[in-house]
Amino acid sequence: MTNIISYDERIKNFDWSISEKELDYQPGNDINIGWYCSDRICKLGKADKPALIWEGSSGQEKRYTYNDLRLTSNGVGQFLRDLGIKPEDRVCLFMDKIPELYIGFLGVLKIGAIVQPLFSAFGDESLIVRLENAQTTAVITQRKHAPKVRKILDKMPYLKHIIIVDPDPAKPLGEREVAFDMDNAPKPENFVIFPTKAESPSVLHYTSGTTGQPKGVKHVHYSLISQYLTAKWVLDLQDSDIYWCTADPGWVTGTSYGIIGAFSNGVTQCVMDAGFSADNWYKFIEKHRITMWYSAPTAIRSLMKAGDEVIKKYDLSCLRHLASVGEPLNSEAVIWSEKVFGKAFLDTYWQTETGSIMISNYPGMKIKPGSMGKPFPGITATVIDADTFEPFGVPGKIGLIAIKPGWPSMMRTYWRNEETYKKKFKNGWYLPGDRSSIDPEGYFWFVGRDDDVINTGGHLVSPFEVESALLEHPAVAESAVVSKPDFVNMEVVKAFVTLKPGFEPSKDLDLEIMNFVRKKLSPLAMPQEIEFIETLPKTRSGKIMRRILHAKEWGEEIGDTSTLEND
Ligand code: WTA
Repeated sequence: MTNIISYDERIKNFDWSISEKELDYQPGNDINIGWYCSDRICKLGKADKPALIWEGSSGQEKRYTYNDLRLTSNGVGQFLRDLGIKPEDRVCLFMDKIPELYIGFLGVLKIGAIVQPLFSAFGDESLIVRLENAQTTAVITQRKHAPKVRKILDKMPYLKHIIIVDPDPAKPLGEREVAFDMDNAPKPENFVIFPTKAESPSVLHYTSGTTGQPKGVKHVHYSLISQYLTAKWVLDLQDSDIYWCTADPGWVTGTSYGIIGAFSNGVTQCVMDAGFSADNWYKFIEKHRITMWYSAPTAIRSLMKAGDEVIKKYDLSCLRHLASVGEPLNSEAVIWSEKVFGKAFLDTYWQTETGSIMISNYPGMKIKPGSMGKPFPGITATVIDADTFEPFGVPGKIGLIAIKPGWPSMMRTYWRNEETYKKKFKNGWYLPGDRSSIDPEGYFWFVGRDDDVINTGGHLVSPFEVESALLEHPAVAESAVVSKPDFVNMEVVKAFVTLKPGFEPSKDLDLEIMNFVRKKLSPLAMPQEIEFIETLPKTRSGKIMRRILHAKEWGEEIGDTSTLEND
């Protein structure tokens, strides 16, 4: 059985009701992602099928069938309900890639509460802005991450519960803390799932913009309609697949396709909660006989760097289908993967706000290495002029990517920030904030972002957040943060800093500032380099021109500097 029907066939008469019908969903009915990802699969006769195979850093393994997923997430739901968590309360998941994260996600949704996944490497400062914005009621976390929550407890009166999934029996719990042992908790057979509807909020994912605080992207349960079908058609998930999505559910790929797309399609998925090494990854694929692998360009480039010899140690013939997301996938990586795995990574393009794949290399379609492919059936996407917001109508021109709003997994707003949400629409188009061209055959070619956000290894970093952290250091007068080129991560963070009077640039000061910001930022947002300079380039109105510093780092033309103050 294959899901592959040609792209041209698929777009003919496409309607999202295809997905609704496959999921037996009638408009107006209840729709709960937690139910669709566990109970429904059991109802389809797959209760005993492995749903989640988890491997920890020391090789320990845990397995959950779809029935386990159903009952264990019921247990999570019951526990949260008994604590007094109400529908639409925000429950933050702040954990490594452990089973509690995956099953907890479904449990929170089952009681109609909103899941707020946050990357476990976030420090207390990254945590507080996101918890404050969401006014989060409960955080589910591990013992090792709890100190970061404790540190900011005083500033969060609305945070009522810190749920520790691996408490130390020898130590008393702290203020507002409660223990929850997921595997051994009661697992109610007949759990009453909250009757969420299509527009009931489901997931709140935080993403960084150029200015201001991170934005909480609000999704709803109806997003399932997009996530299920794109997972089935683009990732080509089939009943017999053993699927591995390498993304962490702190980010949208790890939830849309690492949880929702995978489980709603009833596949077996493997999760590895261990650091990256080429050997580890290939061993994992070989051991679990992974057939479908969804990863990211930075990981692929790291594997390229590790060389072809290491691949020969493993039997990777199980791999059937590969896909990539998050950053530009360079043509070399596509060609390399075809050479070493016999399969090319198919590039897919989308973002936190779109909730599901928008543009991709559709299975069976001719691949043009370096191109992101074509819009998913049902998605109207084009490039438009940045001034008139009108489509060009002719191929080859570079413009803003523009998508017609209305697909099921489109974000519904930015949490408590409707104003910024509205700015994402121009002339009837949704603008993801990226630039591209389209060739005569309708393939999209990514050019770059349309803002100053840095995409390092697939993670979006706001220069504003890094600059703010730098400015808190007593020696720093001003700072400007841009990207610089890097082979593996494509781009990394570089900070330009001017010093206050009385401070001199030195190696020691460099180190001191680095250590200072390390405590404030997630490791992903850390500058790789600080350059001390006399003055920063500014516009006459005093705005720092990151564009000039960026161009210098990338060896590009500086462009129009007519508004530059200190030229
Ligand atoms: C970038 C990740 C080039 C883009 C799912 C987008 C890409 C941002 C691609 C979203 C791709 C994502 N080629 N760039 N195939 N996929 N991007 O919200 O700038 O973490 O807007 O979602 O990553 O990142 P986000």
